[in-house]
Amino acid sequence: MTRLESLQTRRKIQIVDLTLQYQNIKDEIESAVREVLSSGYYILGKNVESFENELRDYLGCRYVVSCANGTDAIVLSLMALGIKQDDEVITVSHSFFATSEAISLVGAKPVFVDIQEEDFNIDPKQIEPLITKKTKAIIPVHLYGHPCEIQSVKEIAVTHGLYLIEDCAQALGAKYNNHFAGTFGDTGAFSFFPTKNLGCFGDGGAICTNDKNIAQKIKELRIHGSPERYVHSYIGLNSRLDEIQAAILRVKLKYLNKWNNLRQEAAKYYDELFKDMEEIQTPVVKPNCNHIFHQYTIRTKKRDYLYEKLKEQGIGTSIYYPIPIHKQKAFSYLKSDNVSLPVTERLAGEILSLPMYPEITREIQEYVVENIRDILDTQ
Ligand SMILES: Cc1ncc(COP(=O)(O)O)c(C=O)c1O
Repeated sequence: MTRLESLQTRRKIQIVDLTLQYQNIKDEIESAVREVLSSGYYILGKNVESFENELRDYLGCRYVVSCANGTDAIVLSLMALGIKQDDEVITVSHSFFATSEAISLVGAKPVFVDIQEEDFNIDPKQIEPLITKKTKAIIPVHLYGHPCEIQSVKEIAVTHGLYLIEDCAQALGAKYNNHFAGTFGDTGAFSFFPTKNLGCFGDGGAICTNDKNIAQKIKELRIHGSPERYVHSYIGLNSRLDEIQAAILRVKLKYLNKWNNLRQEAAKYYDELFKDMEEIQTPVVKPNCNHIFHQYTIRTKKRDYLYEKLKEQGIGTSIYYPIPIHKQKAFSYLKSDNVSLPVTERLAGEILSLPMYPEITREIQEYVVENIRDILDTQ
């Protein structure tokens, strides 16, 4: 029985299958984990330090500081840059909730800007009218692994003296003008949540920066604002990457480029399979952008129907994200639910992310697309 047949029988085509990656590098992962278990060092040890250096070298930046998750990577960036109560931070509503949640966690106010239709990312042309005396920073998101127009966003940040924090949770390895997403801003914030392009077996995160003082401050903030044991200079967090996760990430980082290439090949194959289907809009890769396809996100006016029917067929897809952040109850206190973000709101009703992971086979992709074709043809 082929893998597709076995999945078909169990009606279980998942949007991401993490077990395959583990099986492929099982021996390396298990030996790295065993070494940590017998070392007696479990928090902030040599694996964390080596991983930070290896990620720094991969990104070509000056400093990487790891932390407990991607949300904290944004919170720690905001704290290190001194963003506080009543400051305003411009960001997108079309993202995972954590981007704006982090802003609120430091007491600041997220101010939402609309996105561009083609790449689902921040629309630089709409940023400047939102800048006020209270604006302190911009947090663009490189959503789905497609870099946003970070150079234009950076120019606006520099012109207005604003900090720039890149949310790169979905974009480790993506490039804009040949430079890695994350290396344009004052900081870049990464997540190693298991489904991310570089995922650990739990939670993990990191911040990259070229600024020595920011790196040092984040290093202290992640461990209770402490420059040395039992000395506390700031109110900080307990936000550390543990040794087991760091050891796993060190093994996986070596494969990241290969995995990102496989995602790109799979995306090309989806593009080809959808070529003659007018009802489906496939994702665009803009010039100067290296899209690492954390998600392969199509658009269709029949999204809800398609999503439900695919679910009935045992094909897992996801809507990232069905409710824009400015419409979430948690942010009702901002009274920004009547803010006009027409592209964000329209796309939330049209987007659908399809199964995508490095190990996906052509056979599975064909099966997914054939089902989409049948569902739309028989509607
Ligand atoms: C765009 C974006 N920002 C932030 C985060 C937060 O990362 P974490 O789940 O590691 O806290 C995520 C993760 O889901 C994300 O996708």
